[in-house]
Amino acid sequence: MNLSNRPRRNRKSAAVRNLMRETSLTASHLIYPMFVQEGTHNTPIESLPGCTRWCVADIAAECERLYAMGIACVDLFAVVPETKKDPAGTEAWNPEGVVPRAIAAIKAAVPQMCVMTDVALDPFNTYGQDGIVREYDNGDYEILNDETVDALCRQALCHARAGADIISPSDMMDGRVAAIRAALDSEGFTKVSILSYTAKYASAFYGPFRGALGSAPKFGDKKTYQMDPANKREALREAALDAAEGADMLMVKPATLYLDVIAELKHATHLPIAAYHVSGEYLMIKAAAASGWLDERSCMLESLLSIRRAGADMILTYAAPQVAEWLAENPLN
Ligand code: PBG
Repeated sequence: MNLSNRPRRNRKSAAVRNLMRETSLTASHLIYPMFVQEGTHNTPIESLPGCTRWCVADIAAECERLYAMGIACVDLFAVVPETKKDPAGTEAWNPEGVVPRAIAAIKAAVPQMCVMTDVALDPFNTYGQDGIVREYDNGDYEILNDETVDALCRQALCHARAGADIISPSDMMDGRVAAIRAALDSEGFTKVSILSYTAKYASAFYGPFRGALGSAPKFGDKKTYQMDPANKREALREAALDAAEGADMLMVKPATLYLDVIAELKHATHLPIAAYHVSGEYLMIKAAAASGWLDERSCMLESLLSIRRAGADMILTYAAPQVAEWLAENPLN
């Protein structure tokens, strides 16, 4: 054949392919979500193989290990016993709660580690909803927006006082970014960042996470605040609002099912984009690999690389420690 263009020339060897590679994936792009619980024991999470509910004492040592592996940011989630839950979720801003204690312990052990915290009420209230619930006599219920935003500000301040670097509201209430920014600034926490869950969809892929925390909604669903998976333009509206309200970074969640949304937001904003590779996305690969049907390493790396290619600057993933090990053995970029 008489071809002047042979794209395969650019794929002819590993060295040449590496020169052409458009997207990189390194441990520094990863944020590791971690679960912290009361007591002195660590327990493996059945619904998230490879993940652990850490006690405060041991999470700090684990963070030292993670930092040495190149993972420089963790995101903390509280595991709350039923006895500490109430309708208002008041445990969320208890300065003696597991999250503020874990922040302080991690900061004491590894001051360079960037500590992010999840802000939402679902692990803390009796309903498993991200906000404050009003129940009506006829059985209807409503998630109250403005009352919830007040509670989220208290929770964010509690985390900032304990030393959090980044506050990450995952609740999808309206106006919470501006309110949290004002609350943080009013106490002088002008350097504490906000990573807003901008386009968080009402996804069925959060199931294993809710199992890990025991935080599944006791009734109903989250569709009056999390976004309809059918919508993309709505994500642009949320992004514009979050940027105007002072968010430092925007998040799309889930990740691999919403690559189009990541790409769209990347073009629509100058803010950095995070993507959350959620529990169900992680578990699909783990489960298929455990059955011998998929190769875990190559499927996980391809998934995360795709999220980066779509435009995510950073990725929250349960695979972070494992991926850091794989990349140390054989870097992708
Ligand atoms: C709750 C929250 C959820 C996740 C992160 N924060 C679950 C939900 O909204 O029901 C999901 C994470 C995952 O599935 O990995 N505020």
